[in-house]
Amino acid sequence: MSDIIKIKDDYIDKLNTENNVDKVNNIKSELFGKNGIISNEFKKLGSISVEERKKLASDLNNIKDELQNKISIKIQEIETKEINLKLEKEKIDVTLPERDIEIGKIHPVSQVIDEISSIFSEIGFSVEEGPDIESEYNNFTALNTPDNHPARDMHDTFYLDNNKELLLRTHTSPVQVRTMLKGKPPFKIIAPGRTYRSDSDQTHAPMFHQVEGLHIDKNIHMGHLKGCLNYFIKEFFEVDKIKMRFRPSHFPFTEPSAEVDIGYEIKNGKIVIGEGDKWLEILGCGMVHPNVLKNVKVNPSKYQGYAFGIGIDRLGMLKYGINDLRAFFETDYRWLSHFGFDPLDVPSNYRGLSR
Ligand code: PHE
Repeated sequence: MSDIIKIKDDYIDKLNTENNVDKVNNIKSELFGKNGIISNEFKKLGSISVEERKKLASDLNNIKDELQNKISIKIQEIETKEINLKLEKEKIDVTLPERDIEIGKIHPVSQVIDEISSIFSEIGFSVEEGPDIESEYNNFTALNTPDNHPARDMHDTFYLDNNKELLLRTHTSPVQVRTMLKGKPPFKIIAPGRTYRSDSDQTHAPMFHQVEGLHIDKNIHMGHLKGCLNYFIKEFFEVDKIKMRFRPSHFPFTEPSAEVDIGYEIKNGKIVIGEGDKWLEILGCGMVHPNVLKNVKVNPSKYQGYAFGIGIDRLGMLKYGINDLRAFFETDYRWLSHFGFDPLDVPSNYRGLSR
């Protein structure tokens, strides 16, 4: 018994000088844990005579109470001290004037991608994504573009290694390959994203955006493609009628292939979509080539469908009257505050974009 009183006194001394909660908790488990000193003393009670047990049990209980009290008082003491110290350090001056809240704007390209995604979602397309860094296989070979095909030069590809196995994707079409390889038909997806070609002028930037579309099922034909694009363009430009023309074209991954122009005119310096006799090319499309379907393990005698690739930046320029593509990517804050879009939840104390 005297041993245990000595142990208790030592622990009380220890607790008196402690000022760290974790350490106090360590002491607690040293004493009362599964194999703790006090816990073990209680276990010994079973092997002694009844009288001795009575006495020892009551002494042990007193010691236990004393130590547990000490521990909880100590923890409270340390915590109070810490809070006071924090309060002391972090004084808030409530008389200071508030700072302006700066709210960013949504970049027109992001806005256009959101608009496009929601229009296509309404007619049953889901949204897929693929990486900017692609394999040569997904970007060209799987899309029926053999090694010596002129389309490879046409695309002015940025290769990332000497073996030309990795590249920055030149179009969003590799997402067709990825989507079909990982799932089973039918497929009905769009895939917006960044694309890259070594090209730069007023209407071409080395990095630009496309949205791919792919619809594969048992009976999909060009009529569906036309209907879908017609619907999309009307929704996007918020007009009731549009002029659209399909020009025969060539892509290795579609047969037949077409490029689509929309009719417009310029009225009082503004572009009006759906009227006039000017034409602007906005996308490439066609029926997915049987070789592409074979490459992605889809049976071309059972399934067929269309694909399209739309230039997003160009659509945005047309809709929002932006006449130089390069401005999109110059990250000029003043340009963005003019052409950017307000996010939905603008706090009441927002006083405009501060420069
Ligand atoms: N990938 C083509 C391009 O970038 C566009 C396209 C997509 C054409 C799908 C046909 C089908 O020019």
